[in-house]
Amino acid sequence: MRRKRVAVLISGRGSNMAALIEAAKNKEYPAEIALVISNRPDAGGLPVAHSAGIATEIVDHTKFGKERAGFERAVQALLEKYRIDLVCLAGFMRQLTADFLEKWQLRMLNIHPALLPAFKGLDTHKRVLEARAKIHGATVHFVVPEIDSGPIIIQGAIAVRPNDSQEMLAIRVLKVEHRIYPLALKLVAEGRVRVENGRCLIDGVPVPDDTKESVGEQ
Ligand code: GRF
Repeated sequence: MRRKRVAVLISGRGSNMAALIEAAKNKEYPAEIALVISNRPDAGGLPVAHSAGIATEIVDHTKFGKERAGFERAVQALLEKYRIDLVCLAGFMRQLTADFLEKWQLRMLNIHPALLPAFKGLDTHKRVLEARAKIHGATVHFVVPEIDSGPIIIQGAIAVRPNDSQEMLAIRVLKVEHRIYPLALKLVAEGRVRVENGRCLIDGVPVPDDTKESVGEQ
């Protein structure tokens, strides 16, 4: 099967992007990272992608003022130019419009540092601690216009320890992210994920026998 061509959209350091690049180095992996786009010229992930030999492009949102459609047209033009099949948002800090997302329905993934639908939005580690939650984690989901709300592909969990700080949680959750994002992209690229009534089925079932794959258990 032809490997799917993937674009990763970033705004920052790009450690999830790096995890996807690493996974895709394996020729057996069903996707190749064909392009990295950043909306910020100074994103730390850009030199990382460049030194891995991956095409990088900058679409600086500040150049488009408040006009989201113009920014999205520029992104879309690049996705078409590079013949992209799937898009992975990885720390990409721009909200995308419903018009744009329609073109990428079930072909755009995002990683969120919490167990959705709990703790949508920013500062998840801080809010998890404030809520005295016992379990925390990360979620890979398909992107829909409502933020952090699309069908859940994979989740991975960690226990919150009594003396955890935000930073400590961030480190452990990030490890989970780096494990489940390549796994989720693999499943999607292999065409093994289908959405039924808002729920992702993997190989036709909510949780396949191999629970390691479906829930990202360690
Ligand atoms: C990650 O925690 C991701 O879940 C969130 O933003 C952070 C990006 O980190 N959406 P990185 O740029 O991938 O290192």
